[in-house]
Amino acid sequence: MARRRKSRGSSAGKKKKGAGPQDPRPPEAEAPRAEQAPHPTEEMPPRRAFLSRLWLGLGGLAVAQYVWLVVEFLRPRRSEVDGPGIVVAGPVDQFDPGSVTAFPSGRFYLARLQDGSFLALSRVCTHLGCTVPWIAEEDRFVCPCHASAFDLRGDVLSPPAPRALDIHPVRIENGIVKVDTESTVRRRSFDASQVARA
Ligand code: FES
Repeated sequence: MARRRKSRGSSAGKKKKGAGPQDPRPPEAEAPRAEQAPHPTEEMPPRRAFLSRLWLGLGGLAVAQYVWLVVEFLRPRRSEVDGPGIVVAGPVDQFDPGSVTAFPSGRFYLARLQDGSFLALSRVCTHLGCTVPWIAEEDRFVCPCHASAFDLRGDVLSPPAPRALDIHPVRIENGIVKVDTESTVRRRSFDASQVARA
């Protein structure tokens, strides 16, 4: 009996020695899995996890849309009126003799006279500066402010406008009509030297 007890003790001692430096597993690995704390998302049911991601996505989308709206609101708008410069009006044949074509972005009218020549008329009334519209039915420009009237060449038909509408230089290159809005020519009345010919 004494011999048996001794052998048990020695085998237990051997086991302890084996679990020491020679055992590759760390002591924690021996702990049961149920005792390890799971990751928060791992314990979420799949439906809840899906809804959570969905709400996150929708929230991100709403924030992006809000930022886009703010940027659009703050972005400077492009003016409808171009700055001074060369305006390419178009091919000569595009304009019929006796016609008036408005170029709102350049603030002028391109008038083609009955003889085929061109004049670029400022749309600013020479009385007090109102914008003068072309009234096709009356074949004249009529100022809405004080009823001054101008003919196709910009000459005064009815006061109080003191002089003809200003003009911009026109040149025709390779059959294309171009207007220089950077330069404005004041004049008292129409003169044949003011027109450009194709
Ligand atoms: S501003 Fe045009 S008639 Fe007075």
